[in-house]
Amino acid sequence: MLRNKQIGFLGAGNMGEALIHGLLHGHLCRPEQIICSDVRSERLKAIREQYGVKGTSHNVEVVKQSDIVVLAVKPQIMKQVVEEVAKSLDLSKLIISIAAGVPLDAIEACARKELKLIRVMPNICVSVREGVSAIAGGKHATKEDLMMAKTIFDSVGKSLFIDESLLDAVTGLSGSGPAYIFLIIDALADAGVKVGLSRDDALVMASHTVLGAAKMMIETGEHPGKLKDMVTSPGGTAIAGLHTLEQGGVRTTLINAVEVATERSKVLGAMMKNNLTNHEK
Ligand SMILES: NC(=O)c1ccc[n+]([C@@H]2O[C@H](COP(=O)([O-])OP(=O)(O)OC[C@H]3O[C@@H](n4cnc5c(N)ncnc54)[C@H](OP(=O)(O)O)[C@@H]3O)[C@@H](O)[C@H]2O)c1
Repeated sequence: MLRNKQIGFLGAGNMGEALIHGLLHGHLCRPEQIICSDVRSERLKAIREQYGVKGTSHNVEVVKQSDIVVLAVKPQIMKQVVEEVAKSLDLSKLIISIAAGVPLDAIEACARKELKLIRVMPNICVSVREGVSAIAGGKHATKEDLMMAKTIFDSVGKSLFIDESLLDAVTGLSGSGPAYIFLIIDALADAGVKVGLSRDDALVMASHTVLGAAKMMIETGEHPGKLKDMVTSPGGTAIAGLHTLEQGGVRTTLINAVEVATERSKVLGAMMKNNLTNHEK
């Protein structure tokens, strides 16, 4: 699907690199099909040397050479970058934005023209090709465009289609979720230390327990409640631990955390949209 496409990345930071790595690692395209830009010359040099892709400090050059343009700069400079390349953007190119909180209509407003746009909310785990990315298509994006975006983001984990109006919820769950899980792993490791394990051993056990439980659920396709029932024997240790977790309100706390992060995403998104669409007259 990406065989004859030139793919450009504006911004070759953490996310840009993770996607370049995923595409090449999955043999979805060849290094000569990828071009990226960045303001940091040492960053470009490192990416060029490591992946054999093209790199330039000129954003416009990337857009001109690309069929698919991935906007991978920070949301705060999105307006500046889109305005800079706007003249070279048109409906022949697919534009994929991964900027958190930047709505599709704000990007169109910055470019001051209609574009084939797709917005994606990935999470940091794309850096180890186990990310989850939610893909929302704009009004001019075709089915084929959406499938191309899916191919790109499946190369760094799992992706799914979603309506743009739900991207704040995605930010609250999977976008912010790695932070919650890091905290849970850290807390489990503390618990291990409390009951006599070394810190190192406790961290290995905690992290692999999270990894293994997630993998088991995904591979078996079973509901987590059913798997939980499978590992709780009558009068046993797991049910005693679960009882304590429920007393501590772990389920309610996680629901509250996702809800509050979703609300925060809405507030930040509104501020961002205001900033992006506030053109000087
Ligand atoms: N990281 C995550 O977990 C995550 C998750 C979901 C979505 N996202 C989104 O992904 C996007 C990229 O995030 P990131 O973590 O990859 O950020 P990053 O590591 O800071 O990468 C952005 C790169 O763009 C460069 N840059 C700055 N100004 C530029 C310009 N005018 N033209 C071209 N390049 C420029 C930056 O250089 P300087 O460092 O010198 O500014 C940096 O190297 C953001 O919009 C973010 O919201 C990130």
